[in-house]
Amino acid sequence: MAKPVPPPEHGNVLLIGGGGREHALAWKLKQSPRLATLWLTDPDNAGLARLGRPCPQKMDGSNIFMMQRWCDHNDIHLVVVGPEGPLAAGITDALKTDRRQVFGPTKAAAQIEADKTFAKQLMRHAAISTAEARIFDDADSAEVYIRAHDEPCVVKASGLAAGKGAIVCDTPAEALQAMNRILVRREFGSAGDKILIEEKLCGHEVSVLALVDGRSIWLLDPCQDHKSLGEGNTGPNTGGMGACCPTGLLDSPTLDVIQREIIVPAVDALRREGIDYHGVLYVGLILTPAGPKVLEFNCRFGDPECQVLMVRLQGDLFEILWASCTGTLDDAMIDFDPRAACCVVMCSDGYPGPYEKGKPITGIEGAEALSGGRGEVIVFHAGTTHNQAGELVTNGGRVLGVTALAEDLQAAHDLANAACEKIHFDGAYYRRDIGNRVLVHS
Ligand code: AMP
Ligand code: GLY
Repeated sequence: MAKPVPPPEHGNVLLIGGGGREHALAWKLKQSPRLATLWLTDPDNAGLARLGRPCPQKMDGSNIFMMQRWCDHNDIHLVVVGPEGPLAAGITDALKTDRRQVFGPTKAAAQIEADKTFAKQLMRHAAISTAEARIFDDADSAEVYIRAHDEPCVVKASGLAAGKGAIVCDTPAEALQAMNRILVRREFGSAGDKILIEEKLCGHEVSVLALVDGRSIWLLDPCQDHKSLGEGNTGPNTGGMGACCPTGLLDSPTLDVIQREIIVPAVDALRREGIDYHGVLYVGLILTPAGPKVLEFNCRFGDPECQVLMVRLQGDLFEILWASCTGTLDDAMIDFDPRAACCVVMCSDGYPGPYEKGKPITGIEGAEALSGGRGEVIVFHAGTTHNQAGELVTNGGRVLGVTALAEDLQAAHDLANAACEKIHFDGAYYRRDIGNRVLVHS
Protein backbone atom coordinates (compact mmCIF):
# COMPACT_ATOMS: atom_id res chain seq x y z
CA MET A 1 0.00 0.00 0.00
CA ALA A 2 1.22 3.55 -0.77
CA LYS A 3 2.51 5.48 2.21
CA PRO A 4 -0.03 8.03 3.44
CA VAL A 5 0.71 11.62 2.43
CA PRO A 6 1.52 13.75 5.52
CA PRO A 7 -0.34 17.05 5.94
CA PRO A 8 1.43 20.12 4.51
CA GLU A 9 3.15 22.40 6.99
CA HIS A 10 1.09 25.24 5.52
CA GLY A 11 -1.90 24.33 3.41
CA ASN A 12 -4.66 26.18 1.63
CA VAL A 13 -8.20 25.08 2.38
CA LEU A 14 -11.37 25.46 0.34
CA LEU A 15 -14.47 25.30 2.55
CA ILE A 16 -17.70 24.45 0.74
CA GLY A 17 -20.96 25.65 2.31
CA GLY A 18 -22.14 28.73 4.12
CA GLY A 19 -24.24 27.91 7.20
CA GLY A 20 -23.68 27.73 10.95
CA ARG A 21 -21.96 24.36 10.58
CA GLU A 22 -19.42 25.86 8.17
CA HIS A 23 -18.84 28.89 10.43
CA ALA A 24 -17.99 26.47 13.24
CA LEU A 25 -15.64 24.46 10.98
CA ALA A 26 -13.93 27.65 9.81
CA TRP A 27 -13.59 28.92 13.39
CA LYS A 28 -11.84 25.71 14.41
CA LEU A 29 -9.70 25.51 11.26
CA LYS A 30 -8.46 29.06 11.90
CA GLN A 31 -6.86 27.80 15.12
CA SER A 32 -4.61 25.44 13.15
CA PRO A 33 -1.01 26.60 12.61
CA ARG A 34 -1.10 24.55 9.40
CA LEU A 35 -3.75 26.75 7.78
CA ALA A 36 -2.44 29.12 5.11
CA THR A 37 -5.38 30.65 3.20
CA LEU A 38 -8.98 29.69 3.92
CA TRP A 39 -11.11 30.10 0.80
CA LEU A 40 -14.88 30.31 1.08
CA THR A 41 -17.51 29.34 -1.47
CA ASP A 42 -20.32 31.16 0.41
CA PRO A 43 -19.01 34.41 1.88
CA ASP A 44 -22.50 35.93 2.30
CA ASN A 45 -22.53 34.60 5.85
CA ALA A 46 -21.10 37.58 7.75
CA GLY A 47 -19.47 35.48 10.49
CA LEU A 48 -17.81 33.19 8.00
CA ALA A 49 -16.73 36.05 5.74
CA ARG A 50 -14.52 37.46 8.52
CA LEU A 51 -12.50 34.25 8.60
CA GLY A 52 -11.52 33.70 4.99
CA ARG A 53 -11.26 34.90 1.42
CA PRO A 54 -14.19 34.67 -0.96
CA CYS A 55 -13.70 32.55 -4.08
CA PRO A 56 -13.93 34.82 -7.10
CA GLN A 57 -16.23 32.46 -9.01
CA LYS A 58 -19.40 30.67 -8.01
CA MET A 59 -18.35 27.27 -6.70
CA ASP A 60 -21.63 25.45 -6.28
CA GLY A 61 -20.51 22.20 -7.90
CA SER A 62 -22.36 22.92 -11.14
CA ASN A 63 -19.10 23.52 -13.03
CA ILE A 64 -16.75 20.81 -11.86
CA PHE A 65 -14.14 21.40 -14.54
CA MET A 66 -13.80 25.05 -13.52
CA MET A 67 -13.55 24.04 -9.83
CA GLN A 68 -10.80 21.52 -10.58
CA ARG A 69 -8.84 24.15 -12.48
CA TRP A 70 -9.39 26.76 -9.81
CA CYS A 71 -8.22 24.37 -7.05
CA ASP A 72 -5.09 23.49 -9.06
CA HIS A 73 -4.35 27.10 -9.80
CA ASN A 74 -4.74 28.18 -6.17
CA ASP A 75 -2.80 25.25 -4.76
CA ILE A 76 -5.65 23.96 -2.61
CA HIS A 77 -4.41 21.16 -0.35
CA LEU A 78 -7.61 20.33 1.46
CA VAL A 79 -11.25 20.73 0.46
CA VAL A 80 -13.71 20.56 3.36
CA VAL A 81 -17.29 19.86 2.30
CA GLY A 82 -20.00 20.95 4.76
CA PRO A 83 -23.35 20.02 3.18
CA GLU A 84 -24.60 16.73 1.72
CA GLY A 85 -25.63 18.08 -1.71
CA PRO A 86 -22.13 18.42 -3.22
CA LEU A 87 -21.07 15.09 -1.69
CA ALA A 88 -24.04 13.29 -3.21
CA ALA A 89 -23.20 14.95 -6.53
CA GLY A 90 -19.65 13.54 -6.41
CA ILE A 91 -17.53 16.57 -5.50
CA THR A 92 -15.03 14.36 -3.64
CA ASP A 93 -14.50 12.08 -6.62
CA ALA A 94 -14.00 15.16 -8.81
CA LEU A 95 -11.61 17.20 -6.68
CA LYS A 96 -9.39 14.58 -5.01
CA THR A 97 -5.91 14.18 -6.48
CA ASP A 98 -2.64 12.70 -5.25
CA ARG A 99 -1.75 16.02 -3.62
CA ARG A 100 -5.20 17.25 -2.68
CA GLN A 101 -7.47 15.69 -0.07
CA VAL A 102 -11.21 16.16 0.15
CA PHE A 103 -12.92 15.76 3.52
CA GLY A 104 -16.20 13.99 2.87
CA PRO A 105 -17.20 10.68 1.30
CA THR A 106 -17.34 9.80 -2.39
CA LYS A 107 -20.58 9.82 -4.34
CA ALA A 108 -21.00 6.07 -3.84
CA ALA A 109 -20.50 6.39 -0.07
CA ALA A 110 -22.76 9.45 0.21
CA GLN A 111 -25.67 7.25 -0.88
CA ILE A 112 -25.92 6.29 2.77
CA GLU A 113 -27.66 9.67 3.20
CA ALA A 114 -28.78 10.53 -0.32
CA ASP A 115 -30.69 7.30 -0.89
CA LYS A 116 -32.68 6.08 2.10
CA THR A 117 -33.57 2.88 0.21
CA PHE A 118 -29.85 2.12 -0.17
CA ALA A 119 -29.29 2.85 3.54
CA LYS A 120 -32.19 0.63 4.60
CA GLN A 121 -30.97 -2.27 2.49
CA LEU A 122 -27.44 -1.84 3.79
CA MET A 123 -28.78 -1.99 7.35
CA ARG A 124 -30.83 -5.10 6.58
CA HIS A 125 -27.82 -6.90 5.12
CA ALA A 126 -25.66 -5.92 8.09
CA ALA A 127 -28.37 -6.76 10.66
CA ILE A 128 -28.30 -3.20 12.03
CA SER A 129 -31.21 -2.34 14.28
CA THR A 130 -33.45 0.21 12.55
CA ALA A 131 -37.11 1.14 12.21
CA GLU A 132 -39.04 -1.42 10.15
CA ALA A 133 -39.81 0.01 6.73
CA ARG A 134 -41.43 -0.88 3.44
CA ILE A 135 -40.34 0.75 0.19
CA PHE A 136 -42.79 1.75 -2.55
CA ASP A 137 -42.53 3.36 -5.95
CA ASP A 138 -46.20 3.21 -6.91
CA ALA A 139 -49.07 4.94 -5.19
CA ASP A 140 -51.59 2.07 -5.50
CA SER A 141 -49.47 -0.45 -3.61
CA ALA A 142 -48.54 2.18 -1.02
CA GLU A 143 -52.23 3.00 -0.51
CA VAL A 144 -53.18 -0.68 -0.02
CA TYR A 145 -50.39 -1.00 2.54
CA ILE A 146 -51.38 2.18 4.42
CA ARG A 147 -55.07 1.19 4.56
CA ALA A 148 -54.13 -2.19 6.04
CA HIS A 149 -52.14 -0.64 8.91
CA ASP A 150 -53.43 1.75 11.50
CA GLU A 151 -50.34 2.28 13.66
CA PRO A 152 -48.56 5.65 13.52
CA CYS A 153 -45.87 5.73 10.84
CA VAL A 154 -43.37 8.02 9.15
CA VAL A 155 -43.58 8.55 5.40
CA LYS A 156 -40.25 9.55 3.84
CA ALA A 157 -38.96 10.57 0.45
CA SER A 158 -36.08 8.25 -0.41
CA GLY A 159 -33.86 10.99 -1.87
CA LEU A 160 -32.44 14.26 -0.53
CA ALA A 161 -35.20 16.69 0.42
CA ALA A 162 -33.35 19.41 2.35
CA GLY A 163 -34.34 17.87 5.67
CA LYS A 164 -38.08 18.18 4.92
CA GLY A 165 -38.77 14.76 3.42
CA ALA A 166 -39.89 12.90 6.58
CA ILE A 167 -43.53 13.28 7.60
CA VAL A 168 -44.62 11.82 10.92
CA CYS A 169 -48.21 10.50 10.65
CA ASP A 170 -50.46 9.42 13.50
CA THR A 171 -53.33 8.07 11.37
CA PRO A 172 -53.72 6.26 8.01
CA ALA A 173 -55.46 9.39 6.66
CA GLU A 174 -52.37 11.46 7.43
CA ALA A 175 -50.14 8.79 5.90
CA LEU A 176 -52.21 8.77 2.69
CA GLN A 177 -51.91 12.53 2.48
CA ALA A 178 -48.13 12.38 3.02
CA MET A 179 -47.77 9.61 0.44
CA ASN A 180 -49.72 11.71 -2.05
CA ARG A 181 -47.57 14.77 -1.44
CA ILE A 182 -44.34 12.86 -2.00
CA LEU A 183 -45.14 10.13 -4.53
CA VAL A 184 -48.03 11.62 -6.52
CA ARG A 185 -47.69 15.41 -6.38
CA ARG A 186 -43.87 15.10 -6.26
CA GLU A 187 -43.46 17.97 -3.82
CA PHE A 188 -39.81 16.96 -3.43
CA GLY A 189 -39.23 16.27 -7.12
CA SER A 190 -37.30 13.15 -8.02
CA ALA A 191 -36.31 12.68 -4.35
CA GLY A 192 -39.83 11.26 -4.10
CA ASP A 193 -39.49 8.65 -6.86
CA LYS A 194 -39.53 6.13 -4.03
CA ILE A 195 -40.93 6.40 -0.53
CA LEU A 196 -40.36 4.55 2.70
CA ILE A 197 -43.19 3.89 5.09
CA GLU A 198 -41.55 3.36 8.41
CA GLU A 199 -42.76 2.37 11.88
CA LYS A 200 -42.83 5.38 14.20
CA LEU A 201 -40.32 4.88 16.99
CA CYS A 202 -40.76 6.31 20.45
CA GLY A 203 -37.97 7.45 22.74
CA HIS A 204 -35.29 10.11 23.00
CA GLU A 205 -33.45 11.07 19.83
CA VAL A 206 -29.65 11.34 19.85
CA SER A 207 -26.98 12.05 17.24
CA VAL A 208 -23.79 10.03 17.29
CA LEU A 209 -21.07 11.13 14.88
CA ALA A 210 -17.88 9.30 14.05
CA LEU A 211 -14.85 10.18 12.00
CA VAL A 212 -14.01 7.39 9.59
CA ASP A 213 -10.79 6.98 7.61
CA GLY A 214 -11.70 4.00 5.45
CA ARG A 215 -10.94 1.51 8.22
CA SER A 216 -10.62 3.13 11.64
CA ILE A 217 -13.45 4.83 13.40
CA TRP A 218 -13.18 7.63 15.94
CA LEU A 219 -16.36 8.16 17.89
CA LEU A 220 -17.06 11.80 18.72
CA ASP A 221 -18.88 12.64 21.94
CA PRO A 222 -22.63 12.10 21.49
CA CYS A 223 -24.92 15.07 20.89
CA GLN A 224 -28.58 15.84 21.22
CA ASP A 225 -30.33 17.91 18.60
CA HIS A 226 -33.75 19.50 19.20
CA LYS A 227 -35.71 19.18 15.98
CA SER A 228 -39.11 20.58 16.96
CA LEU A 229 -39.75 24.30 16.70
CA GLY A 230 -41.57 24.66 20.00
CA GLU A 231 -40.47 24.25 23.59
CA GLY A 232 -41.28 20.84 25.05
CA ASN A 233 -40.81 19.34 21.55
CA THR A 234 -43.98 20.71 20.09
CA GLY A 235 -44.73 22.10 16.67
CA PRO A 236 -43.24 21.32 13.27
CA ASN A 237 -39.86 19.75 12.61
CA THR A 238 -37.01 22.12 11.72
CA GLY A 239 -33.39 21.69 10.65
CA GLY A 240 -32.53 21.81 14.37
CA MET A 241 -33.29 24.44 17.00
CA GLY A 242 -30.33 23.72 19.23
CA ALA A 243 -27.95 21.05 20.40
CA CYS A 244 -25.96 20.01 23.40
CA CYS A 245 -22.86 17.88 23.84
CA PRO A 246 -22.27 15.63 25.60
CA THR A 247 -25.71 14.29 26.32
CA GLY A 248 -26.63 12.58 29.57
CA LEU A 249 -29.14 10.45 27.64
CA LEU A 250 -26.46 7.99 26.51
CA ASP A 251 -24.42 5.96 28.97
CA SER A 252 -21.16 4.43 27.95
CA PRO A 253 -22.47 0.81 27.55
CA THR A 254 -25.14 2.07 25.12
CA LEU A 255 -22.52 4.07 23.24
CA ASP A 256 -20.44 0.87 22.97
CA VAL A 257 -23.47 -0.92 21.51
CA ILE A 258 -23.91 1.89 18.97
CA GLN A 259 -20.28 1.63 17.94
CA ARG A 260 -20.12 -2.19 17.88
CA GLU A 261 -23.53 -3.01 16.46
CA ILE A 262 -24.25 -0.02 14.24
CA ILE A 263 -21.27 2.06 13.15
CA VAL A 264 -18.66 -0.68 12.67
CA PRO A 265 -21.08 -2.99 10.78
CA ALA A 266 -22.21 -0.09 8.56
CA VAL A 267 -18.63 0.82 7.57
CA ASP A 268 -17.83 -2.90 7.04
CA ALA A 269 -20.96 -3.40 4.94
CA LEU A 270 -19.93 -0.47 2.72
CA ARG A 271 -16.49 -1.99 2.31
CA ARG A 272 -18.03 -5.29 1.25
CA GLU A 273 -19.70 -3.28 -1.52
CA GLY A 274 -16.31 -1.90 -2.51
CA ILE A 275 -16.88 1.50 -0.85
CA ASP A 276 -14.25 2.94 1.50
CA TYR A 277 -15.92 5.54 3.69
CA HIS A 278 -13.84 8.62 4.52
CA GLY A 279 -15.35 11.58 6.35
CA VAL A 280 -17.84 11.93 9.13
CA LEU A 281 -20.62 9.40 9.52
CA TYR A 282 -23.61 10.76 11.41
CA VAL A 283 -26.08 8.34 12.91
CA GLY A 284 -29.50 9.64 14.00
CA LEU A 285 -30.95 7.25 16.57
CA ILE A 286 -33.95 6.76 18.79
CA LEU A 287 -33.30 5.16 22.15
CA THR A 288 -36.22 2.71 22.30
CA PRO A 289 -37.00 0.35 25.17
CA ALA A 290 -35.61 -2.41 22.90
CA GLY A 291 -32.29 -0.56 22.46
CA PRO A 292 -30.97 2.10 20.08
CA LYS A 293 -32.45 2.05 16.57
CA VAL A 294 -31.22 3.95 13.54
CA LEU A 295 -33.46 6.62 12.00
CA GLU A 296 -31.00 7.78 9.39
CA PHE A 297 -27.40 8.09 8.39
CA ASN A 298 -25.94 11.39 7.21
CA CYS A 299 -22.67 11.70 5.33
CA ARG A 300 -21.61 15.05 6.93
CA PHE A 301 -21.57 16.94 10.21
CA GLY A 302 -24.96 17.82 11.65
CA ASP A 303 -26.05 21.42 12.00
CA PRO A 304 -26.16 22.48 14.91
CA GLU A 305 -24.34 19.38 16.22
CA CYS A 306 -21.15 20.63 14.53
CA GLN A 307 -21.22 23.86 16.54
CA VAL A 308 -21.20 22.07 19.92
CA LEU A 309 -18.63 19.53 18.73
CA MET A 310 -16.22 22.19 17.42
CA VAL A 311 -16.22 24.26 20.60
CA ARG A 312 -15.36 21.14 22.61
CA LEU A 313 -12.93 19.52 20.17
CA GLN A 314 -9.29 19.69 21.22
CA GLY A 315 -6.64 19.08 18.64
CA ASP A 316 -5.79 20.51 15.25
CA LEU A 317 -8.84 20.28 12.97
CA PHE A 318 -6.70 20.53 9.83
CA GLU A 319 -4.70 17.47 10.97
CA ILE A 320 -7.80 15.59 12.09
CA LEU A 321 -9.65 16.07 8.79
CA TRP A 322 -6.48 15.24 6.87
CA ALA A 323 -6.09 12.03 8.89
CA SER A 324 -9.63 10.99 8.03
CA CYS A 325 -8.87 11.50 4.32
CA THR A 326 -5.56 9.64 4.38
CA GLY A 327 -6.39 6.64 6.57
CA THR A 328 -4.29 7.81 9.53
CA LEU A 329 -6.87 8.50 12.23
CA ASP A 330 -5.11 6.04 14.53
CA ASP A 331 -2.22 8.53 14.79
CA ALA A 332 -4.36 11.65 15.17
CA MET A 333 -4.57 13.64 18.40
CA ILE A 334 -8.27 14.06 19.14
CA ASP A 335 -9.75 14.92 22.49
CA PHE A 336 -12.68 16.78 23.99
CA ASP A 337 -12.84 19.64 26.46
CA PRO A 338 -14.41 18.15 29.60
CA ARG A 339 -16.81 21.10 29.76
CA ALA A 340 -20.30 20.91 28.25
CA ALA A 341 -21.55 22.85 25.24
CA CYS A 342 -25.01 24.13 24.44
CA CYS A 343 -25.99 25.84 21.18
CA VAL A 344 -29.27 27.75 20.99
CA VAL A 345 -30.45 28.59 17.48
CA MET A 346 -32.05 32.02 17.04
CA CYS A 347 -34.34 31.96 14.03
CA SER A 348 -36.52 34.30 11.97
CA ASP A 349 -40.22 34.71 12.66
CA GLY A 350 -42.08 32.23 10.44
CA TYR A 351 -39.32 29.62 10.17
CA PRO A 352 -39.55 26.74 9.12
CA GLY A 353 -42.19 28.31 6.87
CA PRO A 354 -41.72 31.54 4.89
CA TYR A 355 -39.94 34.39 6.67
CA GLU A 356 -38.65 37.87 5.91
CA LYS A 357 -34.97 38.73 5.60
CA GLY A 358 -32.98 41.91 6.12
CA LYS A 359 -33.75 42.58 9.82
CA PRO A 360 -30.88 44.41 11.56
CA ILE A 361 -29.15 42.33 14.27
CA THR A 362 -27.65 43.93 17.37
CA GLY A 363 -26.04 42.75 20.58
CA ILE A 364 -23.64 40.03 19.42
CA GLU A 365 -20.66 41.78 21.03
CA GLY A 366 -22.58 42.04 24.28
CA ALA A 367 -23.42 38.34 24.12
CA GLU A 368 -19.81 37.35 23.51
CA ALA A 369 -18.68 39.70 26.28
CA LEU A 370 -20.38 37.34 28.76
CA SER A 371 -17.33 35.09 28.26
CA GLY A 372 -15.31 34.96 31.44
CA GLY A 373 -15.73 33.26 34.78
CA ARG A 374 -18.93 31.41 33.85
CA GLY A 375 -17.56 30.01 30.60
CA GLU A 376 -17.24 31.04 26.98
CA VAL A 377 -19.78 32.34 24.49
CA ILE A 378 -19.23 31.98 20.74
CA VAL A 379 -21.89 33.23 18.36
CA PHE A 380 -21.86 31.28 15.09
CA HIS A 381 -23.60 32.89 12.14
CA ALA A 382 -25.96 30.83 9.97
CA GLY A 383 -28.26 33.13 7.99
CA THR A 384 -26.67 36.59 8.24
CA THR A 385 -25.21 39.11 5.81
CA HIS A 386 -24.39 42.82 5.54
CA ASN A 387 -26.85 45.13 3.82
CA GLN A 388 -25.83 47.99 1.55
CA ALA A 389 -25.55 50.31 4.53
CA GLY A 390 -23.06 47.88 6.07
CA GLU A 391 -25.42 46.76 8.83
CA LEU A 392 -25.51 43.14 9.97
CA VAL A 393 -28.91 41.73 8.97
CA THR A 394 -30.81 38.44 8.92
CA ASN A 395 -30.53 36.42 5.74
CA GLY A 396 -32.07 33.03 6.49
CA GLY A 397 -34.43 30.97 8.65
CA ARG A 398 -31.83 29.88 11.15
CA VAL A 399 -29.92 33.10 11.83
CA LEU A 400 -27.44 32.49 14.68
CA GLY A 401 -26.16 29.57 16.75
CA VAL A 402 -25.48 31.06 20.17
CA THR A 403 -23.08 28.59 21.73
CA ALA A 404 -21.80 28.38 25.29
CA LEU A 405 -19.10 26.23 26.81
CA ALA A 406 -19.30 25.90 30.59
CA GLU A 407 -18.62 23.66 33.56
CA ASP A 408 -21.68 21.46 33.08
CA LEU A 409 -24.77 21.35 30.94
CA GLN A 410 -26.88 23.40 33.33
CA ALA A 411 -24.26 26.17 33.31
CA ALA A 412 -23.89 26.00 29.50
CA HIS A 413 -27.68 26.16 29.09
CA ASP A 414 -27.92 29.18 31.41
CA LEU A 415 -25.03 31.01 29.75
CA ALA A 416 -26.31 30.39 26.20
CA ASN A 417 -29.73 31.69 27.22
CA ALA A 418 -28.25 34.75 28.91
CA ALA A 419 -26.31 35.41 25.68
CA CYS A 420 -29.46 35.10 23.55
CA GLU A 421 -31.15 37.73 25.73
CA LYS A 422 -28.49 40.23 24.68
CA ILE A 423 -29.13 39.72 20.95
CA HIS A 424 -31.98 41.44 19.14
CA PHE A 425 -33.59 41.37 15.73
CA ASP A 426 -37.16 41.88 14.70
CA GLY A 427 -39.09 38.60 15.08
CA ALA A 428 -36.24 36.69 16.75
CA TYR A 429 -37.36 33.37 18.20
CA TYR A 430 -35.48 30.70 20.12
CA ARG A 431 -36.26 27.77 22.40
CA ARG A 432 -35.37 28.35 26.03
CA ASP A 433 -35.30 24.64 26.84
CA ILE A 434 -32.34 23.43 24.76
CA GLY A 435 -30.69 20.75 26.85
CA ASN A 436 -33.54 20.56 29.32
CA ARG A 437 -34.49 16.98 28.57
CA VAL A 438 -30.97 16.05 29.46
CA LEU A 439 -31.06 18.19 32.57
CA VAL A 440 -34.15 16.31 33.69
CA HIS A 441 -32.43 12.97 33.15
CA SER A 442 -29.01 13.68 34.59
P1 AMP B 1 -35.03 11.87 8.74
O1 AMP B 1 -35.18 12.70 7.51
O2 AMP B 1 -35.10 10.41 8.49
O3 AMP B 1 -33.84 12.28 9.53
O4 AMP B 1 -36.22 12.28 9.70
C1 AMP B 1 -36.34 13.59 10.23
C2 AMP B 1 -36.86 13.55 11.65
O5 AMP B 1 -38.14 12.90 11.67
C3 AMP B 1 -35.99 12.74 12.60
O6 AMP B 1 -34.93 13.50 13.12
C4 AMP B 1 -37.00 12.35 13.67
O7 AMP B 1 -37.23 13.40 14.59
C5 AMP B 1 -38.26 12.12 12.86
N1 AMP B 1 -38.35 10.68 12.47
C6 AMP B 1 -37.87 10.13 11.34
N2 AMP B 1 -38.11 8.80 11.31
C7 AMP B 1 -38.75 8.50 12.43
C8 AMP B 1 -39.28 7.28 12.98
N3 AMP B 1 -39.19 6.12 12.34
N4 AMP B 1 -39.89 7.34 14.18
C9 AMP B 1 -40.01 8.53 14.84
N5 AMP B 1 -39.55 9.70 14.38
C10 AMP B 1 -38.92 9.71 13.19
N1 GLY C 1 -29.21 18.53 12.90
C1 GLY C 1 -29.68 17.57 11.98
C2 GLY C 1 -28.95 17.49 10.72
O1 GLY C 1 -27.98 18.17 10.49
O2 GLY C 1 -29.34 16.67 9.89
